[in-house]
Amino acid sequence: MNEPRKILITSALPYANGPIHLGHMVEYIQTDIWARFQRLRGNSCIYVCADDAHGTPIMLRAQQEGIEPQTLIDNMKVQHERDFADFYVAFDNFHSTHSEENRFFSEQIYLSAKAKGNISTKTIKQAYDPEANMFLPDRFVKGECPKCGAADQYGDNCEVCGATYSTTELKNPYSVVSGATPIEKDSEHYFFKVADYADFLKKWVNGGAVQKEIANKMNEWLEGGLNDWDISRDAPYWGFKIPGTEDKYFYVWLDAPIGYIASFKNYCDRTGIDFDEYWQEGKEDETELYHFIGKDIAYFHTLFWPAVLKAGNFRVPTGVFCHGFLNVNGQKMSKSRGTFIQARVYLDHLPAEPLRYYYAAKLSNGVDDIDLNLQDFQQRINSDLVGKVVNIASRCAGFISKKFDGKLSDTLAETTLYQQFIDASESIASAYEARRYSKAMREIMALADLANQYVDEKQPWVLAKDETRQQEVQDICSLGINMFRAIMTYLKPVLPELAAKSEAFLNAGELQWDSVASPLLGNEINRFKPLMTRIEEANINQMLEANKEHLAAAAALQAKTGAGNNKEESQLAKDPISPTINYDDFAKVDLRIVKIIKAEQVKGADKLLQLTLDLGDEQRNVFAGIKSAYDPADLEGKMTVMVANLAPRKMRFGVSEGMVLAAGPGGEDLYILNPDEGALPGMRVK
Ligand code: MSP
Ligand code: ZN
Repeated sequence: MNEPRKILITSALPYANGPIHLGHMVEYIQTDIWARFQRLRGNSCIYVCADDAHGTPIMLRAQQEGIEPQTLIDNMKVQHERDFADFYVAFDNFHSTHSEENRFFSEQIYLSAKAKGNISTKTIKQAYDPEANMFLPDRFVKGECPKCGAADQYGDNCEVCGATYSTTELKNPYSVVSGATPIEKDSEHYFFKVADYADFLKKWVNGGAVQKEIANKMNEWLEGGLNDWDISRDAPYWGFKIPGTEDKYFYVWLDAPIGYIASFKNYCDRTGIDFDEYWQEGKEDETELYHFIGKDIAYFHTLFWPAVLKAGNFRVPTGVFCHGFLNVNGQKMSKSRGTFIQARVYLDHLPAEPLRYYYAAKLSNGVDDIDLNLQDFQQRINSDLVGKVVNIASRCAGFISKKFDGKLSDTLAETTLYQQFIDASESIASAYEARRYSKAMREIMALADLANQYVDEKQPWVLAKDETRQQEVQDICSLGINMFRAIMTYLKPVLPELAAKSEAFLNAGELQWDSVASPLLGNEINRFKPLMTRIEEANINQMLEANKEHLAAAAALQAKTGAGNNKEESQLAKDPISPTINYDDFAKVDLRIVKIIKAEQVKGADKLLQLTLDLGDEQRNVFAGIKSAYDPADLEGKMTVMVANLAPRKMRFGVSEGMVLAAGPGGEDLYILNPDEGALPGMRVK
């Protein structure tokens, strides 16, 4: 036997300003399966996480809700922990980055980096909101596109014409926070000189710590030269003050990963585990450290983070495991399509384990996106888990209980068949170890097929009627139950509740990976109770309906408070009312009811759809920046409103002859206007 490995793993820390959704769950389920697998194999695997509780969006959201940031993050933590627990994601510790441990380590690491000369300062110009008295991150400044004049564009690119520019070029810029016109102001910032660690990073990245796709990306970044990383933000900021300064705070992305260390420290203080064994510099050969993350945050974890650890005299990660993004029904999760599914809404309507199994059946060790196709999900669960796995037990258990007082045979009927179940162990284990869960699930389902074929062929229900062949019935069903037991052992990391129910039914203690090698012979099992029920289409539809209502309610609240967007530095517009105009100004705008008779993708355009609009007696060709929110097919036949007398505009893809009206902050949150019934194409909107 090898010595048990000592492993520490983490999932990325979810932002504390929004609820957990099914996209997040890809990561937490992936990590949890790995933790459970390691423990089932006899290794020690500690799994820690925390809420990422700092940053501007959290500060502003609390302000808008009229509560303290502390109250906001406390409430959110309770919700997050409940969602995770109900999906059987079993952290050993779930902490917060707004904690004393995290303040301690953030300061320690910063001071160590400073002592090593890795910190520099530089005065930079930044947009400043003179009303809210705060500096504005890029995503908090909006204005009119300098190229096409479209309103409400962010400070880096135009969603309507696709132009890119810098914030200072925006026309009539306004602060998303107060609506005020931003001014430029100087501020001294602190920088971490990542380039000081370029040699180390080159070695680390090419030493097998990251997937090859990520290594390729990193090598590009490394070759391109590393810029100093801006790690400070000016007050007011919700975070930790930088030691030795009056009004500078650590940027949220500096202290966020340090939250991994802090959460682990909090766990050690609770349990007496040796902190240094896992985090001290030089411990790389004794203990293993892995971070599970999404591909969107690879840059922070594979470039800055190892360098920051080095600067702070900590050990570096053994590996960073990146996964892709979740799509729903083949498309990006979307609020307008109602597929931005919250964990809680899912749990209100559907059991957790099927989603765990479905994700496992889809996950590989690559960074490709995975698709949650809800119809496929339903079929897959019903056919694999209910139809194959649970079916084996339910077909065999009745005979054992009724005819043999629950007693299994003393010998195995077909040792060669059962041997295949033992032999599969290593291949399935390697697949789990390498995070090739879809491969593991395929191999396990192949075993389930074998077991079902065996029972089909032997037809114990026919033999049961023949008094002389009772021994055969007991033998067949006993083997069936042992095959079920092996399958449930292999599935235990994915389906912990089903495994627990199976353990109760099998009545022989906890399933351990190696217990497959010693089948149950002569044991008495318990009466079989249904282990899992089918998923009905109605459950899924109800869930989607509820989710739509949920999203609508959240959008209404968001409109009221301006809060709710999840990402750091991408806050919703608090859209100020424009200066008053007189009626003549308004009358110049010729708004018409139109029918969208054709909607098509535009080759090469990220944001645009090409619409053919019917105005009653003429047709117009219009390019609309609504691709992120609509499927062309869903638009065809819809009525909407257009500005009919807007000067035609030549765009890269053709001439746009007017503009359709849509509301919302942008991205998926964009809604075209629909006239009430009775309005006909060509009617003027007055
Ligand atoms: N707070 C940062 C992470 C800091 S780690 C020191 C963050 N938070 S997040 O809430 O936006 O995302 C948490 C994790 O969930 C990230 O790894 C992210 O990639 C993952 N996912 C968020 N949405 C996702 C999908 N739609 N699909 C798959 N994973 C997704 O980033
Ligand atoms: Zn533009």
